[in-house]
Amino acid sequence: MIEKLNLLQQHALAALGDVDGLAALDEWRSQTLGRKGELSSLMRGMGKVPAEERPAVGQAANEVKATLEAAYETRRLSLAEAAQREALQRDAVDVTLPGRAAEVGRLHPETQTLREIYAAFADLGFQVYRSRDVELDEYNFQLLNFPLHHPARDMQDSFYVASPEGTEGDVLLRTHTSPGQVHAMREVVAQAKADGLGDNELPPVRIVLPGMCYRNEQITARSEIQFLQVEGLAVGKKITMADLKGTLHYFVRRLFGPQRKLRFRTSYFPFTEPSAEVDMDCILCEGSGCRLCKYTGWLEILGCGMVHPTVLRNGGYDPDIYSGFAFGMGPERITMLKYGIQDIRYFWSNDLRFLEQF
Ligand code: DAH
Repeated sequence: MIEKLNLLQQHALAALGDVDGLAALDEWRSQTLGRKGELSSLMRGMGKVPAEERPAVGQAANEVKATLEAAYETRRLSLAEAAQREALQRDAVDVTLPGRAAEVGRLHPETQTLREIYAAFADLGFQVYRSRDVELDEYNFQLLNFPLHHPARDMQDSFYVASPEGTEGDVLLRTHTSPGQVHAMREVVAQAKADGLGDNELPPVRIVLPGMCYRNEQITARSEIQFLQVEGLAVGKKITMADLKGTLHYFVRRLFGPQRKLRFRTSYFPFTEPSAEVDMDCILCEGSGCRLCKYTGWLEILGCGMVHPTVLRNGGYDPDIYSGFAFGMGPERITMLKYGIQDIRYFWSNDLRFLEQF
């Protein structure tokens, strides 16, 4: 029996040496020391041992049990330690590695340009006025002195929209921000009248009107079917062309530098009289002629003029008492000049490689 006990111990210790993990160790324990394990089943043969040998066998059995339990405990500790070491190594952080940069969003280049425009005009007392993208033909054209069937409409190919029930007249996506002029004037006049003010006491208007415009045009590097405009409108008593020129000089020098020169060329718009197109001296060559200005020394940046008496009247202002100026510009064009961007299609095609540069 003692022989068997010694053998059992030898085998068990050898098996313990092969145990390679905590799960296998548990298995080893129940096979060796468990209630149905090898030691227990060997001890069940105790009955056949002669009575005088029993104390010695019992003592030997206890020693084997103690040895195996101690061996088990030692093995368990070393396996647990190894497991922990491995886990620490697996999850180790190399603090010398460079950090991963967090993705940071940024403002769209047009948002940045719009904010610069608002800020420049805000300093001159202009407020931002927003007007609808979907317009009536009446506001987009007729009230702005484009007569029905007038060829000037061909300057702006329109996207027409199915008229909602109850609307009279054609509905279209605005082709410019100018219809906002009439909405704004009518709103101010209606409020003034509600406050009991007379035709001679109307408050002045000084606003910029930003917004998307839509034209059914061939898409090219220079023209999109969807683009921004910023309109400006000032209405009051004794407003003259000199006020318009001063305002635009201030604006252009704020955005493009204090040394900029402006040139006013006579032009035609139905809603202004007189009308002008405004050029600034080329920001690249300062007027000596280069590819950007097509060797003219000048870059066209906006259209403007004195508000046509018919438009003032349509807005509710008596043109014998009030006058005003208006202007309209394309923020995409301004951004393209500022950053030397060659293709207007980049702005609204959502290519991150473009947008991330601003
Ligand atoms: N509405 C014109 C266009 O889309 C731009 C413009 C020109 C607006 C002259 C104005 C202006 O207010 O006075 O081409």
